[in-house]
Amino acid sequence: TFNKQATITVLGASGDLATKKTFPALFGLYAQGHLPEKVRIFGYARTDLTDEAFRERLSSKFELVGPNTKEKAEEFKKLCHYVQGPYDKAEGFAGLNKAIEKVEKEMVASGEVPNRLFYLALPPVVFGSVCGQLKAECYLGDGKGHTRVIIEKPFGRDLETSRELQKQIAPLFTEAEIYRIDHYLGKEMVKNLLIFRFANLPMTSWWSNQYVKTVQITFKEPFGTEGRGGYFDGIGIIRDVMQNHLCQVLSLVAMERPLSFDPEDIRDEKVRVLKAVRPIEHRNVILGQYGPNEEGKPGYLDDASIKSKDSKTPTYAAIALEIRNERWDGVPFILKAGKALNDSKVEIRIQLRPVARGIFHDITPNEVVLRVQPNETIYMKVNTKYPGLSTQTVATDLDFTYHRRFTNLVIPQAYESLILDCLKGDHSNFVRDDELDEAWKIFTPLLEDIDAGKLPVEVYPYGSRGPESVSKFVQKLGYVIPKNE
Ligand code: BG6
Repeated sequence: TFNKQATITVLGASGDLATKKTFPALFGLYAQGHLPEKVRIFGYARTDLTDEAFRERLSSKFELVGPNTKEKAEEFKKLCHYVQGPYDKAEGFAGLNKAIEKVEKEMVASGEVPNRLFYLALPPVVFGSVCGQLKAECYLGDGKGHTRVIIEKPFGRDLETSRELQKQIAPLFTEAEIYRIDHYLGKEMVKNLLIFRFANLPMTSWWSNQYVKTVQITFKEPFGTEGRGGYFDGIGIIRDVMQNHLCQVLSLVAMERPLSFDPEDIRDEKVRVLKAVRPIEHRNVILGQYGPNEEGKPGYLDDASIKSKDSKTPTYAAIALEIRNERWDGVPFILKAGKALNDSKVEIRIQLRPVARGIFHDITPNEVVLRVQPNETIYMKVNTKYPGLSTQTVATDLDFTYHRRFTNLVIPQAYESLILDCLKGDHSNFVRDDELDEAWKIFTPLLEDIDAGKLPVEVYPYGSRGPESVSKFVQKLGYVIPKNE
């Protein structure tokens, strides 16, 4: 199995994703003793680099904290090799295969079969050709060994292009060999959702339209595109984080109890709830694009990497989704995501219906908030008596903050957790093909209308709370702004 020995090859090894996320995650796993006993790591890319230059380059992004020591970094670097080659020619991949075979000879004991993991940290335009080359030159199947392939979004830009991509890859690798990463599924709080929901009687009993009034899933980033405009323009915030990350969170919040923790049971339920999402109506959408602010922060269109100076690409979106099933009928699921906002935060906020009126005036609706980042916490807003001689009520938080509950805890990085799952062969936190299809089905008609300029895009100042109309929009959908906020 992959526990004992494996080679891990990162394609696109000199790029941003590999340098900032993939290699630091592999290093973290190594330093904590989670990589297979015998492991070698290959970087493959077009850039001409020696092993030495490659090792120096990747270790520049390692964070040396806790078990991630300098000594471990030196050991880890020795396990890394670099192979230079193109993404569309057999020679390059034949060279890669040779390099892998060479180390496998030393690593794999007699009677064992080799294990190969390929991580595509590459733009999707080359996915198809790279998968083809990997299959032709580096694939181990038919009893000769095991191959797993990790791919990462964007999986197309709409339903059609996503299906095309799937069509290219499906004949090459089985669904069991493919791991589609959505790194939000590796985040600690997101992984906690199933436990929190299904292992606690109070949660299981009120998690429905009987008690819940609104659900909001919010993603806020305090910085703009800042040089990444070449990638972002024409893509927009919905494709960048909503169709994937927030939609994954939504499916975990809204799904029914799975039959078991088996990956297929979990993913079956996620697909089922996505199928119940109604088509998005324009009146349930607010779009925004950030403009300059008074402190001199540049607007989206001032970014030198944005080529089209009249671009209407949204950097903010608030969308209310309706889930038409017995549990959620009538409860808006409001997804909100934006760049260049006033805060850095990802959270799930579930507001309950008000208690019967009569004896209380002026009380705050109960809310459960699960903060995904930063500073993971779950808190519940409840009403209590204000201490003293009156019967005045006051909103209080019942609070489970991870760093208070677990001192000295190092919460694993999303990519560490997911790469380890892949080495173990656990698909639970990866996106299945039909799940991807359903997520695209929800957003594609809206994206087509946005691309055709059919929806207005409000300008909001860099560093603000987003488009002004959002606050009214969520209140109209039933959200009551708590008194103490
Ligand atoms: C990526 C998006 O998928 O997720 C980025 O392309 C975004 O635009 C990032 O900044 C957010 O990830 P995280 O883990 O920092 O919340």
